[in-house]
Amino acid sequence: MIELVNLKRITALHAESIRQALTDVADSGWFLKGNATKRFEQEYADYTGTRHCVACGNGLDALTLIMRAYIEMGRLKEGDEVIVPANTYIASIIAVSRCRLKPVLVEPRRETLQIDDSLIEDAITKHTRAVMIVHMYGRCAFTDRIGDICRRHNLLLIEDNAQAHGCRFGDKKTGALGDAAGHSFYPTKNLGALGDGGAVTTDDTELADMVRALGNYGSERKYVFSHKGVNSRMDELQAAVLLAKLPFLDEENERRCSNARFYIDNIKNRLVSLPTDDFWQNSVFHIFPLMCKQRDKLQEYLKANGVQTDVHYPIPPHHQRAYEELRSLHLPITEAIHLEELSIPVSQVVTEEERECVAKLINDFRI
Ligand SMILES: Cc1ncc(COP(=O)(O)O)c(C=O)c1O
Repeated sequence: MIELVNLKRITALHAESIRQALTDVADSGWFLKGNATKRFEQEYADYTGTRHCVACGNGLDALTLIMRAYIEMGRLKEGDEVIVPANTYIASIIAVSRCRLKPVLVEPRRETLQIDDSLIEDAITKHTRAVMIVHMYGRCAFTDRIGDICRRHNLLLIEDNAQAHGCRFGDKKTGALGDAAGHSFYPTKNLGALGDGGAVTTDDTELADMVRALGNYGSERKYVFSHKGVNSRMDELQAAVLLAKLPFLDEENERRCSNARFYIDNIKNRLVSLPTDDFWQNSVFHIFPLMCKQRDKLQEYLKANGVQTDVHYPIPPHHQRAYEELRSLHLPITEAIHLEELSIPVSQVVTEEERECVAKLINDFRI
């Protein structure tokens, strides 16, 4: 079986350093809020190019803490509207509603699968206070136009960088393009932990301090509570694992890009649409999404031939029961993406033989 993301192989790439890191933490007798977390925060901030990084429990918490912090700081208030891409993973939207803010869904562009920057201004009302861009599939969603709209309308720009660690836009990285960014280190992400993990990056010292306090029960000093916070910590074991893997992130992203390039050059089947060259500028290929009108048949066929795939995602957020209030929205591009998208193996451990096999199978696919 060619796995979509073979986590055993990915972990084996770093087996020695991970074992050492885990042993060091176990031997240290210090498991939360220790040196490994502090070092990871410093190194990840340096890597991303921001002044601050605050580690937390997971990516959903990272996004939630950003908006909770802005509420505490008086920059957002209950009922304010936050623009989000309609085709995002549900976590981006849950983070907004968890803070009692209102998600306003905007369609993506068909060619880039990222929020359509030409539709954002039409979605702005007198209640809009923020735009959350989501670097879907590992492709940068930021555009100069989005930066300009946020400046002109005085909107906060929040990045959901769960899927695009290390992705570049000019001389900056995703996670350093807006006012604040939430990152997830879920195991299958480009930089993945051996469990849950997340982080907030920002240049804003006040925001970083507030996020840190809110993730620690609302406490800035031991046993003194200024806010009704939550418990969202990265544990030392995960921080140590991430520290061991971070130096190899760029190299591993390049391997993903090389696999993607191979597919773009070698998959030729009129039933399948591949990302265009333009699409893949500024991407770290967290996912390789191809589009196929006979998606379910293609997925079955690949499975029968030993290739594991996935759909990101089968049901769009506005059709989920959890978001009944959004059901009446008509979002044809988002709906088409959810019907046609198929993710094929592209990770850093996909071998040349495996990618050749995947491409050949897709080329031979007929209905
Ligand atoms: C786009 C996006 N946002 C947020 C999240 C939430 O991250 P986590 O699973 O670490 O809570 C994920 C990943 O699961 C994601 O893909």
